[in-house]
Amino acid sequence: MINYQHIQVEQFEKIGTIRLNRPKVLNALNRKMVHEIVNAFIEMDQDDDVKVIVLFGNGKAFAAGADIGEMAQNDAVDLELLNQFADWDHLALIKKPIIGAVHGFALGGGFELALVCDLLFAAEDAKFGFPEINLAVMPGAGGTQRLTKLMGKTKALEWLWSGEMMSVEEAVRFGIINKIFPKELVVEETIKYAKKLAEKPALSVRFIKEAVNKAIDYSLYEGMQYERKNFSLLFSSEDQKEGMRAFLEKRKPEFKGR
Ligand code: CAA
Repeated sequence: MINYQHIQVEQFEKIGTIRLNRPKVLNALNRKMVHEIVNAFIEMDQDDDVKVIVLFGNGKAFAAGADIGEMAQNDAVDLELLNQFADWDHLALIKKPIIGAVHGFALGGGFELALVCDLLFAAEDAKFGFPEINLAVMPGAGGTQRLTKLMGKTKALEWLWSGEMMSVEEAVRFGIINKIFPKELVVEETIKYAKKLAEKPALSVRFIKEAVNKAIDYSLYEGMQYERKNFSLLFSSEDQKEGMRAFLEKRKPEFKGR
């Protein structure tokens, strides 16, 4: 795997891990770091040996947002020319499951990065929020969109306007995170979960992710048509034949991921 400056990537069996690694600034996301994160995701998505990607942060936090020092002096023309959020668009195209393990702060761009994950596990000390309003700006990497789709307009506006931080209990209640773990166990438990998911037939995992994501953007009718196509397509996979044959023969299936 490639050596990066601001992140660390590793592989444990079928699990690829990406660790944010600017702990002195609470993993504040500068542009180079976002570029590295996106490259690492793309690399793992294309690597047949990686089945599930796990994302977490080194140090005291997951990520305390975009690097304020880097963007403080920018004007609108700089931002337009930099097109800095274009990198984020690639994250929505990752086909493999992404599981985030959040501890400490996940704020601003850090929260936006967490919201890119398909599943989110959090430590008891995790805090989520969009403090951009206190800097007289707003989220720019999908925060207003993804938060609203998860919790609905009125709740999203309340959090985005207040800039306050949400506890893990609130995050569970609003459907933002899946599970809460003690801080010292959150990464271990996430990897344990990822290993189980990595054993499932990979095409089913991938097509289910695609279909669920369509449910967010499509009408019910369009989403159901999409689901049906994916359902049919799975019947041309070797794993479907093996899965159903194994059931009928009362034995454990051996999936190949194709
Ligand atoms: N950018 C740059 N540096 C940051 C940072 C950020 N987003 N967040 C923290 N840091 C730095 C601090 O400046 C500090 O550096 P020094 O030691 O050199 O002073 C170091 O990280 C530790 O931070 P604190 O001393 O502030 O730690 P704390 O525990 O007292 O407070 C905190 C933690 C409440 C998260 C506080 O650091 C904070 O408010 N950070 C900024 C959060 C924020 O506003 N995020 C949104 C950014 S804008 C954005 O993300 C836009 C977008 O949509 C992409």
